Amino acid sequence: MSVFSHPEFDSHLRVTHVTDPDSGLVAIHAIHRSIGGRSGGGIRFRPYATEGDALTDVLRLSRAMSNKFALAGIPVGGAKSVIIGDPATLKTPTLLAAFGRFIDGLQGLYIGGPDIGTNADDMVELARTTPYVAGRADQSGSTAVPTALGCFAGLQATVRAAFGRDEFHGLRIAIQGVGGVGGELARMLVDRGAEVLVADVDSAALRQMAPLGVRIIAPEAILSADVDILSPNAMGAVLSAQTVPTIRARAICGCANNQLATPEVAHLLTERGILWAPDYVVSAGGAIDGCKDAGILSAEERDARIAGIGTTLTTIFDLATRGNTTTEAAAQALARDAVENV
Ligand SMILES: NC(=O)c1ccc[n+]([C@@H]2O[C@H](COP(=O)([O-])OP(=O)(O)OC[C@H]3O[C@@H](n4cnc5c(N)ncnc54)[C@H](O)[C@@H]3O)[C@@H](O)[C@H]2O)c1
Repeated sequence: MSVFSHPEFDSHLRVTHVTDPDSGLVAIHAIHRSIGGRSGGGIRFRPYATEGDALTDVLRLSRAMSNKFALAGIPVGGAKSVIIGDPATLKTPTLLAAFGRFIDGLQGLYIGGPDIGTNADDMVELARTTPYVAGRADQSGSTAVPTALGCFAGLQATVRAAFGRDEFHGLRIAIQGVGGVGGELARMLVDRGAEVLVADVDSAALRQMAPLGVRIIAPEAILSADVDILSPNAMGAVLSAQTVPTIRARAICGCANNQLATPEVAHLLTERGILWAPDYVVSAGGAIDGCKDAGILSAEERDARIAGIGTTLTTIFDLATRGNTTTEAAAQALARDAVENV
């Protein structure tokens, strides 16, 4: 499988295949950019169907991290790790120690954090073999709360741009996925008087929503629900040529990474008059929080950067309107400028 000619390659600095036969570790690590000798991004652990799927995912995700840091004004390049396999059976202290040793060998060029399939406790385990991990249970803990806070700031900017108002009262908002981020977001929105509809494939996640009084709908109905705003917080590639024509929301703002199934979907959304808040801007709260743990930001700087997600989105929405282009194109242009200026 060729890396250099891969459609998602985008001149990555390094792509490393990592194995440890004793623990069963098989992983791919990618560094898209390094700024001041630093890069960062989450450690995803999932049973990819093929090695090619894992490579595509790690390349897309590490590039998205470059945009995420640049648009959050943080001088760190984008990177990502994917560990291939089922975390339920393969994730052991021995495997995490082996991956920790790999990270440690990079001597600070890469700082890892939790992602799908890994959590704040795993970061504590990794920290036994390397100091270069953020999002540890014994430090700030789960990144879901700062990520949801950033999403909320993004939703405020989205509501202002799409509906010309500052309050959520009476707005109907559909949340796909009520895990760490979506669940926290549902609580914030209910508190502000929004009418919240949720869907999840996990009944335990839905049970936690019961006390909030939200409406639970079927997972296959959430994207086309009759709502003002859709917030995808489950998995990527949910916005596609098949799903976009069925969406009834006027705006989309959520934290699921890589929501656009293909780049062309950004045009489909614009043609349908749906305002899309680019996910790598909306979901930066966890990465920003990790930078506080890593000593790159103070607590005050972290809070300001998370609140700043709303301001960045407003700039992107204005640029898209003035340039008669998609919010994705506007965000990419802003990210290019930001990379040059961080
Ligand atoms: N946690 C973070 O700090 C963070 C940061 C940036 C981006 N994200 C992204 O945000 C999203 C949510 O993250 P999280 O930490 O809440 O993850 P999570 O695993 O805690 O929650 C995801 C939820 O989505 C549900 N789900 C999966 N498939 C679904 C489907 N088809 N329909 C409805 N629900 C479905 C799962 O059952 C789960 O409850 C992920 O895409 C993640 O990559 C998270």
